[in-house]
Amino acid sequence: MSELLFVNACVRGERSRTLALARHFLSEYVKNHPEVTVTERNLMTERLEPQYPEVLEHRDELWNAGKLDDPSFDAAWQFAKADKIVIAAPFWDLSYPAILKIYLERISVCDITFGYDADGNSVGLSRAEKLLLITTRGGSFSLPETAWMESGAHHLKALCAMYGIPAFQLLCAEGLDDVRNNKEAILAQAMGEARVLATQF
Ligand SMILES: Cc1cc2nc3c(=O)[nH]c(=O)nc-3n(C[C@H](O)[C@H](O)[C@H](O)COP(=O)(O)O)c2cc1C
Repeated sequence: MSELLFVNACVRGERSRTLALARHFLSEYVKNHPEVTVTERNLMTERLEPQYPEVLEHRDELWNAGKLDDPSFDAAWQFAKADKIVIAAPFWDLSYPAILKIYLERISVCDITFGYDADGNSVGLSRAEKLLLITTRGGSFSLPETAWMESGAHHLKALCAMYGIPAFQLLCAEGLDDVRNNKEAILAQAMGEARVLATQF
């Protein structure tokens, strides 16, 4: 039985277009892969604490004592052991909401999701073969003149390299808040892409 971890960072909940796209992808995915268990982590209900000084200090104490089985590392182990990972997050301030950054800080634990070999080289320790980011954007940030500003997908792709996840994929509907665009048509196209991706992911 393999496991797909779904990390939900869609702050607007049921009003979120990103969540609608992600739910469509996941429902198509389970139709195509009935053997896969989907486990959702909802970052709005979970409310992980940012790494304030005392939070980081506690984590360092546990890590230095080798207590990697402490419940505060559960999210990191879950991420490290998932076979596939889907993250749904809207495009905020050129990247993604802070709740996702807090989650990423929580799961980025040396000797769980990444580590170093005897020669000091960084090695990924996460099992997932693929990570898919599902996002929607108000503006268009895949154009030659704007792509450099996009810092959400780029950051997650780089983290995949650190975690040892070989394939990063992106499902994106963009330009949804641009009055010159037909947002229904853009979303419909992304839903179609989700259906195709669900057969291949
Ligand atoms: C706090 C906030 C920040 C945003 N920042 C950006 C941005 O930097 N660039 C952009 O193109 N759209 C931005 N948007 C627009 C969203 O990306 C867009 O409306 C998206 O579809 C929202 O996704 P959702 O329906 O899943 O919440 C922002 C929206 C919010 C609420």
